Amino acid sequence: MIKATNIHKYYNDLHVLKGVHLNIQKGEIVSIVGASGAGKTTLLQILGTLDRASSKDHSTLHINNVDILGLSDKNLAKFRNEHIGFIFQFHQLLPEFTALENVCLPAFIKKTAKADAEKRAKELLNFLGLSHRYNHKPGELSGGEQQRVAVARALINNPELIFADEPSGNLDSESAENLHNLFFKLRDEFGQTFVIVTHNEELADMADRKLVMVDGKIV
Ligand SMILES: Nc1ncnc2c1ncn2[C@@H]1O[C@H](COP(=O)(O)OP(=O)(O)O)[C@@H](O)[C@H]1O
Ligand SMILES: [Mg+2]
Repeated sequence: MIKATNIHKYYNDLHVLKGVHLNIQKGEIVSIVGASGAGKTTLLQILGTLDRASSKDHSTLHINNVDILGLSDKNLAKFRNEHIGFIFQFHQLLPEFTALENVCLPAFIKKTAKADAEKRAKELLNFLGLSHRYNHKPGELSGGEQQRVAVARALINNPELIFADEPSGNLDSESAENLHNLFFKLRDEFGQTFVIVTHNEELADMADRKLVMVDGKIV
């Protein structure tokens, strides 16, 4: 599903990723742990195609056998919209839109018809226990509910691959546990692949595989 070799990233003089090699199978749940500043978010953004690896190190990145580093920005955005979902620590929902509208956005970007998008969004919200919250705005939802709306948004285009960066970093322990169980339920029901950066040891240990990042490398 994901094959990365020799991924480097520099921010001016700062060498943040120092040659990351990674191979993730379809349907796998992989956690990435490591100290703050180790480069976890930077790596996730590159694997998730939101950022590009440095081009001078002969890096390679293949997702679903597509040569990601060879795509134009336009094709990269299309690939991301169709194949990848993101869940962030701060849910990043749009405050002036309802839960249903937030969930539909990636489908609208993909030019899915409104009725089809809303049908799928409602299915997801129902699946996530939010059938009574379609028309609530993020400010009217609890933290756990907001994060589940963000999960529904990540899933609306049926991505094969989901990246989560500290998804439960902002949740109470019960909401966090529910969210973690949800990831496994989704994998079991829909076969999605998850790459999850987390400081939550329980979640990190639940994963099929735990990767540890130290100073820009996976050790
Ligand atoms: N846009 C940026 N510009 C400059 N330095 C950055 C930028 N983003 C991250 N960094 C630096 O890169 C290093 C790794 O950051 P990050 O990937 O966010 O680590 P982590 O997620 O493991 O805490 C840190 O030293 C951070 O300050
Ligand atoms: Mg981070």
